[in-house]
Amino acid sequence: MSVTVANHPLIKHKLALLRKNDISTKDFRDLSSEIARLLTYEATKDLETEAVEIEGWAGPVPVEMIKGKKITIVPILRAGLGMMDGVIDLIPSAKISVVGLYRNEETLEPVRYFVKLTSQMEERIALILDPMLATGGTLVATIDLLKEAGCKHIKGLFLVAAPEGIRRIEETHPDVDIYVAAVDEKLNDIGYILPGLGDAGDKIFGTK
Ligand code: URA
Repeated sequence: MSVTVANHPLIKHKLALLRKNDISTKDFRDLSSEIARLLTYEATKDLETEAVEIEGWAGPVPVEMIKGKKITIVPILRAGLGMMDGVIDLIPSAKISVVGLYRNEETLEPVRYFVKLTSQMEERIALILDPMLATGGTLVATIDLLKEAGCKHIKGLFLVAAPEGIRRIEETHPDVDIYVAAVDEKLNDIGYILPGLGDAGDKIFGTK
């Protein structure tokens, strides 16, 4: 497993703005999407290309194009939707596989309430989107269901991660690569990341 902390000045700046307590819903949405776009750039660096020849203005030109890799974006409901537009900007042909999970308050286990995956999952690179990697419980359940569907190549994109969540993925799914704008200090006693962003879903959707 690799954890890439995208240490780019633009990401640091945008994340700093995102952490402001009085941020508007619009700014939170715009910045989440912009950071997701920059994380996508990092997460797709290893896509294979192939040499092809195209017809240019002055005749044939040898160029490189992405080699037939199919990508599916996997936003985890609901906050993951806030990162989706940024990813689609860079990969407009990607198919979308939506995953919705809630936590059973007695067993504390994630329960699937909505799963709609695209076809040919076994051939696709899956890019999971969730603004916050906190305890890792939802992410583990999402990776489990993607692997059940045959997915072999899985990456996760997050705005902020807690060390506890990263450790959980290292232990349970060491083959999954993580891309994150920042790794914060810790979780508080109700599972929120500190300093974190607060409730990312509420901030993206303007709910409280
Ligand atoms: N989900 C959030 O929205 N925020 C956190 O800090 C943790 C989980």
